[in-house]
Amino acid sequence: MIFRGSIAHFPKVSTSPKDDIVYLHDGAIVVENGKITAIDDYKQIQQTFPSMPLTDYSGKLIVPGFIDSHTHFPQTEMIASYGEQLLAWLAEYTFPTELKFADKSYSEKMAGHFIQQLVRNGTTTALAFSTVHAHACNALFSAAAKRNMAMITGKVCMDRHCPEDLQDTPELAYQESKALIEKWHGKGRSLYAITPRFAPTSSDEQLQALGKLASEYPDVFIQTHLSENKDEIAWVSSLFPHCSNYLGVYQHYGLVRKRAVFGHCIHLQDEEWQALSSAGATVAFCPSSNLFLGSGLFDKQTADKYQVQQALASDVGAGTSFNLLRTYGEAYKVSQLKGQAIDPLQGLYMMTMGAAAALELDKDIGNLNPNTFADFVVLEPHFNSLSTLRINDTSDCADTLFALSIMGDERCINQTYIAGIAQLGTNKTVEEPVNA
Ligand code: GUN
Ligand code: FE
Repeated sequence: MIFRGSIAHFPKVSTSPKDDIVYLHDGAIVVENGKITAIDDYKQIQQTFPSMPLTDYSGKLIVPGFIDSHTHFPQTEMIASYGEQLLAWLAEYTFPTELKFADKSYSEKMAGHFIQQLVRNGTTTALAFSTVHAHACNALFSAAAKRNMAMITGKVCMDRHCPEDLQDTPELAYQESKALIEKWHGKGRSLYAITPRFAPTSSDEQLQALGKLASEYPDVFIQTHLSENKDEIAWVSSLFPHCSNYLGVYQHYGLVRKRAVFGHCIHLQDEEWQALSSAGATVAFCPSSNLFLGSGLFDKQTADKYQVQQALASDVGAGTSFNLLRTYGEAYKVSQLKGQAIDPLQGLYMMTMGAAAALELDKDIGNLNPNTFADFVVLEPHFNSLSTLRINDTSDCADTLFALSIMGDERCINQTYIAGIAQLGTNKTVEEPVNA
């Protein structure tokens, strides 16, 4: 199948997205067996593949599927929980919600619901926290696999400072995580992330067990939280007096490396930025969450100075939207407050190629290069009746993306493709998975 439209993507790793974007005003991609096999101007593609069927999205913008580098699937139902900052918010809203996932069928229902929200918002890959329950992690992997969707998730590990029914132990965390790695990691498009929630909810013994597991599986992902809130940081320093700073806790247990993704990173010291950079680890910038919980303003300039890999993330349910364009809109506002505006092409990079490269997945996703999976989104510049947005050239493309990010929502997503299969039906209902 040929897909025609205005196409924007970053074919390679970039430190200057506005220079490295490829924009084809009348472009086309060829999709065969779930993968992209060619990308070029439409005329060229038409000549090379004269009898191939065409889906015509002329006047719309085709970009790679979005990658959400930090989110929580069980928190879908608790967006907009009023009034608290991080630690009270966890106790009052988050832990009670996650307790509901002790019920396997509830987990399955919510996993399906979560994926529908992703798809409706153009997200085709997520690095998602599950709950402590192994069956909830299984439920999310299963629901994603039915759509051939690249999902990265893991069972949350916690053995203290949370309700007893959400606790595992160092041994259980190790064994259950290991069994889930063996079951899912690298099977189809599923990938595993070792998931200690954050330092305060794991004992030294548990972090040690997870560090051992990480050393046994060097290509598995690691996800956790880091330096989000000042009370949290003070608490970490009292719980781990033998470590010189918050990141030092994770370093001590061998959890800082490539493919390790740290949510937030608002209040880091210079040594911590340096250590993240040297390790090739990734920071997930969660602007809507940081504003919602009053956590603080991410300092992108310092992250750039230390050349730390960065990706954009919703952090639902502290985050207030599944939509990564909208999330970039919030990042823009944070960057304005910091006097360092993040431009829309940088925003697009941070939710596509930048995230994929940071996660070492750019051979498969994050761009529209031949041999990658056909995960892409069709954006609707005329999503509201007032819109006069144009997409004639790269500069128009940037302006349009910006407008969609500030004013848009699900209406901007005309269609989401996962491995070449359209996911949205008429009236934007999410179609049942084709393999179901
Ligand atoms: N820190 C530890 N757990 C969480 C969580 O669920 N959400 C956020 N935003 N921060 C956390
Ligand atoms: Fe989070």
